[in-house]
Order: sequence, then C-alpha cells, then structure tokens
Amino acid sequence: MTFTRLLTAAARTVAALGTSLRQVRACSSVSSVSSERARGTNMDLSNMRKTYRAESECFVENQLVSLDPIKQFADWFDQATKCPDIGEANAMCLATCTKDGVPSARMVLLKGFSREGFCFFTNYESRKGAELESNPLACLVFYWEPLNKQVRIEGTVERIPYQSSREYFHSRPKSSQIGAVVSRQSTVIPDREYLRQKNAELEEKYKDTEVPMPKYWGGYMVKPHAIEFWQGQTTRLHDRIVFLRSKEGATLGDMQHQAEGGWVYQRLSP
Ligand SMILES: Cc1cc2nc3c(=O)[nH]c(=O)nc-3n(C[C@H](O)[C@H](O)[C@H](O)COP(=O)(O)O)c2cc1C
Repeated sequence: MTFTRLLTAAARTVAALGTSLRQVRACSSVSSVSSERARGTNMDLSNMRKTYRAESECFVENQLVSLDPIKQFADWFDQATKCPDIGEANAMCLATCTKDGVPSARMVLLKGFSREGFCFFTNYESRKGAELESNPLACLVFYWEPLNKQVRIEGTVERIPYQSSREYFHSRPKSSQIGAVVSRQSTVIPDREYLRQKNAELEEKYKDTEVPMPKYWGGYMVKPHAIEFWQGQTTRLHDRIVFLRSKEGATLGDMQHQAEGGWVYQRLSP
C-alpha cells in the first residue's frame, strides 16, 4: 500500500469513527436523562403527569347508563373496543393470592361476561391456577388509558363447566390449541428450543386429527361482589363509583343508593 493510500484509509477510518461517535452522542443526548437514571437506581419520575379530562367532562351518577353494573361495564367496554388507540380492550390484570396472603398479578384476556361473571381461560396448573385453587378470591383490573377509565372487579372464582371450556378450546386456531398443550405454564424449562421441538412434535402428531384439550386447561369465571368504575380527571378529583352486591335483607348504608339486580352503589373519595 502506498503512503497516499494509507493516508486515505486512515482518514476514512477517522471519519467513520467520527460518525459513530456523533451517533452515540446524539443517542445519548436524546436519552441522557434516562440513561443517567438507568445507570443508577434513582429514577425521579415526579414530573411524569398527563392531562386527563376537563372538569366539565366529569363522571357523575346521572351519567351511569344503567344502575346495573354489568350493563354499565358493557357500555364502557364497548367504548374501549371502539377506541382506535386501544389495541386489546379485553386485556385485564388478574390479581390472585396464595392462602398465606402472598399476592401475584398478570395480564389475561377477558373472553366473555354476563350477569354471572367475567370469564378467562388459562392453565389450571399455572401459578395463578394453583393460587386460585387454594384461595378462590381474585381481582380484575382494566385500564383503558386513552379514555382515562379504570374498572376494578373483585369476586370469587370458579371453574367454568368442562364442556364450555372444550367448546372454546376447539374454537381457537389449531396453533393456539397446540400451544396450550406444549406449555406446562409457569414451570421451569431448559430453553426456547425445548418449546420449539415440542411444538413441532405435536404439530406432526395432530396434523390430521383434533387436538384433545388438556385436562389442565380451561376457563374460570370471576363472580363479582364489587365493581368499581373510575374516571380520571385532570384536576385529580377523579370519579369513583362502586357497586356492591347487596346482602339479603340488608338496609342501605350511609350514602349508599339502591342499584339494580341486587346491587347497591356509593361514591368513594379519589
Ligand atoms: C395482553 C396479555 C394477555 C394475556 N392473556 C392470557 C390469557 O388469557 N391466559 C393466560 O393464561 N395467560 C395470558 N397471558 C400471559 C400471562 O400474563 C402470564 O404470563 C401467564 O398466564 C402465566 O402466569 P402465572 O405464572 O402467573 O400463572 C397474557 C399476557 C398478556 C401480556
């Protein structure tokens, strides 16, 4: 290589290094605050605040579409499903608890609701399944951020009838059915390859036949005893209207109002 060529190559390398450095600096200046925070454990999020809604848009009792909380839920759920900025309106956080009081939470998909309750499907032997079997109390939370709406549902949980689980299982795409068989949910596995191999084996095994629903898979129904509708307001004077299942023969409590279908309702301070 001649001296001139050497010089040109060196100049190119320096130029390339310069570009990389500029890119790194640009990147780090964009996220300088966050990378600073990420390096430490001290995340100051005190300025993270969003404008919700105007006071004039507050949610008052006479705006309830129904005094039946299931119908009220149906109205909010409908709004959420029609909101283009909400990808999965039926995604909800399910909180369960061991019988010793250790809580855990995760997202699941709501697959149906009625006056009877709110239904989701899962593996009965998963962590949530084991917790629900020993402590059948659960809580569901929906948060539809673009609407500033939250719904909390508390209740007791029961398995849905086997036949209903079977019908739903076989209505799913075959790949999802196989996925449910492949995954012994919440158990430790060696690596991803283990799942790939098992999936391939089962695809081959069931290529011409129906996938049998595993005995450890099925639906649960959360039978609600409390449903809270929360509407966020910019003033932080959020609206909270809670429906409680009324007890047989009980009189209305202070500031409680009669609702429909065996429910009472009251307003909570935000
Ligand atoms: C949006 C979303 C929806 C989900 N839906 C379900 C579901 O319907 N059923 C389910 O078993 N897991 C679902 N998962 C996975 C769970 O969050 C969780 O990882 C899994 O059920 C194991 O939880 P566990 O170990 O606490 O039992 C979903 C996850 C996300 C992010």
